Amino acid sequence: MRRFLPYLRYLRAVRGPITKAIVYGVLYGAASGAGIPLLVKYVFPPVFHLQGSLALSTVALIAACIPIVFLLRAVTGYLNGYYTQYAGVRILEQIRTEYFSKLQYLPLSFVQSRQTGDLLSRGLADTQQLQFALSLLANDGIKQPATLVGSLVALGVVAYKSQGAWLMLVCLAAVPLVIFPVRFVGRKVIRRAAQLQAQLGSVTSQFSENLSAAREVRAFGLEQRELGRFATGTRALVAAQMKIAKYAQALTPAIEMISAIGIAGTLIYAYGSGVDETSFLAIIAALYTSYEPVKKIGTLNNELKRGQAALDRLEVVLHEPVTITDPAAPVPVGRLRGDIAFDGVTFAYKIGEPVLREVTIAIPAGTVCALVGPSGAGKSTFVNLVPRFYETVGGHVRIDGHDVRDLRLADLRRNIALVSQEPVLFNDTILANLLLGRADATRPEVEQAARDAFAHDFITALPNGYDTMVGERGASLSGGQRQRLALARAFLRNAPILILDEATSALDSDSEAAIQAALKKLVVGKTVLIIAHRFSTIRDATKILVFDRGEIVATGSHGDLYAANSLYRSLYDRQQGAG
Ligand SMILES: Nc1ncnc2c1ncn2[C@@H]1O[C@H](COP(=O)(O)OP(=O)(O)OP(=O)(O)O)[C@@H](O)[C@H]1O
Ligand SMILES: [Mg+2]
Repeated sequence: MRRFLPYLRYLRAVRGPITKAIVYGVLYGAASGAGIPLLVKYVFPPVFHLQGSLALSTVALIAACIPIVFLLRAVTGYLNGYYTQYAGVRILEQIRTEYFSKLQYLPLSFVQSRQTGDLLSRGLADTQQLQFALSLLANDGIKQPATLVGSLVALGVVAYKSQGAWLMLVCLAAVPLVIFPVRFVGRKVIRRAAQLQAQLGSVTSQFSENLSAAREVRAFGLEQRELGRFATGTRALVAAQMKIAKYAQALTPAIEMISAIGIAGTLIYAYGSGVDETSFLAIIAALYTSYEPVKKIGTLNNELKRGQAALDRLEVVLHEPVTITDPAAPVPVGRLRGDIAFDGVTFAYKIGEPVLREVTIAIPAGTVCALVGPSGAGKSTFVNLVPRFYETVGGHVRIDGHDVRDLRLADLRRNIALVSQEPVLFNDTILANLLLGRADATRPEVEQAARDAFAHDFITALPNGYDTMVGERGASLSGGQRQRLALARAFLRNAPILILDEATSALDSDSEAAIQAALKKLVVGKTVLIIAHRFSTIRDATKILVFDRGEIVATGSHGDLYAANSLYRSLYDRQQGAG
């Protein structure tokens, strides 16, 4: 219970419905807990004791009490259920939104180090489980204790009036005993619930991985292997579910056994003390109605344990610190010039395994700078430090003399246009995808950017032109088309710093040459960092940085490097040979 306290703030947004739910819940509790036993004790007996002497209309009036009590119970129960459900789904909405929002601001490295499916499962299945627990808590958490109190009061009153305090105590004796099975089962459930949610996450991961590798599965004939993996995962899920069922299902019978023993004990005691029949029946009714809420409280306890396990998994994300944030006192900047300087920058994805070592380089504004080097040398990592996607381990990345950590993230990133190594499009129209570059761009500006990226012609050839849907991640387009749209999107941004990570790799030689020409025009006055494996793209760069194993081993123009640097020469010659 204590674990949920911080989350009670979610209740604030649903104050109205929760209050209504509580009021109706208490009325429901009174009507069902006390109403029925009191009917048995006080309302029905005259019908039998005064048999014959009562007018039929009086009997009908007494009989009418039954539907009235049940109507009260039905209406209050319904309203209580409705309002708690409403509050529950609104709470779920808030938890999901908070979780999703957190994922937007967490460092890229956090998201990259986790499986998509697992994060998905936490955001959907675990939030659902938590919501179920919270709704049940809000609902039964009020209704059942109210019912219990109502019926215990009725029980106490009837027993006390019939035979006095001793009978009352005997009747109440068995009720606390049910705490033992409730606690025992609760403890068993929590550990297994954690296993179940984790297993669900693992099955979801596998599912999403499988879908994203649909082509590979078919190409390598992995259908049976994938099916086998999935079957193993879901089998484990069944096992985890049954482990919970084994304990959760035992709870109700255990409580019923205790209540049966309690009722039997009461019968024996009542016989000895000469309790009359109507009182006895009223006591049985009250005992029965008091075990009902106990059973439900036990179930609630189980669901709370499962909710707690889900909450633990959500908190792994919710409590993760957002390490890449705006500084406390950001340097106010507008449009930057685009002077980039790396000053002794060391970076590691994993502690102790540096990927960049003490990199120092100055790239003046307006330079077209090409990055070359073997695969894994650290080129992509280098350019990803400019928009501060990752935090350096040592040294400074500066733009126009400001450490990137001193700028507001939005200010920094507004000044950078990026085409990443695997550009992603959203499942929307081509136009909408291009406008992501700059939301307020006019239609002629969009078309100009598309022309510059040699995308306009293929776009207008599509049946719906700029309104064509691109499919999930741009699946309905070719790799080269996707890349052109990503380029157009970056051109449209018109930022002083342009980063192109293998942005022309999927283009044929003709388009690449054409894009080269467009780039020449576009890059005027901009700082461009370009990673390209085709040397035709980089030969014209003002400055070339040669990367090797996390260091910049040489810089210069193509002519200088070809003459002086053996790594560059061998990379170049190999490329030319291949071409
Ligand atoms: N997200 C990541 N988590 C952990 N290690 C990473 C991550 N991204 C890259 N690396 C590692 O960092 C090193 C540098 O990678 P990087 O992507 O910067 O190379 P690159 O020069 O761009 O190579 P390529 O030419 O193949 O694109 C590699 O050894 C790679 O394994
Ligand atoms: Mg790379």
